[in-house]
Amino acid sequence: QQESPLQGRSIVVTAGPTREKIDGVRYISNYSSGKMGFAIAGAAAKRGALVTLITGPVHLETPPGVKRIDVESALEMHAAARTFFQSCHIFIGAAAVADYRPAAPYERKMKKEAEEIEITLVKNPDILAEFSLQKSTKQLAIGFALEMQSDIDNARKKLESKQLDLIAFNFFDRKTSGFEVDTNILTLIERSGKTTELPQLTKHDAAERLLEVIEKQYGSKSPL
Ligand code: C5P
Repeated sequence: QQESPLQGRSIVVTAGPTREKIDGVRYISNYSSGKMGFAIAGAAAKRGALVTLITGPVHLETPPGVKRIDVESALEMHAAARTFFQSCHIFIGAAAVADYRPAAPYERKMKKEAEEIEITLVKNPDILAEFSLQKSTKQLAIGFALEMQSDIDNARKKLESKQLDLIAFNFFDRKTSGFEVDTNILTLIERSGKTTELPQLTKHDAAERLLEVIEKQYGSKSPL
């Protein structure tokens, strides 16, 4: 069997949701389970890559051979990613990072007094875009775009604006694809414009197919 071009390379994967604190006992989050990111991390480790998995709160076992870093908020995920991205070869953003966080979370529990309250939200840093825009010609940045409708053009725009090498357009359907479920329907769009439509697959198989494309991209960038 041929050695994978990912053998011995360092890969950072972000996974899961983030939690954005409202007060001491409450948060804003989303339905991400982390399954896709964990499947990618496991499949990369099987190929001999040195994988660092930075994950929000999930109920999943760490895949064998993967170094796991647990975080809670987008700011914590951002800080963890920062310490690893300079030295990594491939950065894969599979986390569902909350776009906004409460501007001034209460330390204690908020009291139920007013009939109406307002929570001001401020934008979180875009972790993947930050890395991707500063990456060297030897590094790859891969992202996901979860879209409610089959709005593939939106995914293409994200590939462009974040200057990604590949984006996985992730069709959102409550039963078959997207958050929580065990299967996914992905379309892989490469920088060159090459587009690969994958059928409904288990997240494990979708991760394998994604890594095959990444292997090709990385292999041609940095031949062994
Ligand atoms: O722009 P949008 O959130 O749809 O982009 C999704 C991609 O960007 C995913 O790969 C996600 O992990 C990454 N992302 C990020 N930090 C954010 C928002 C998104 O890394 N604050």
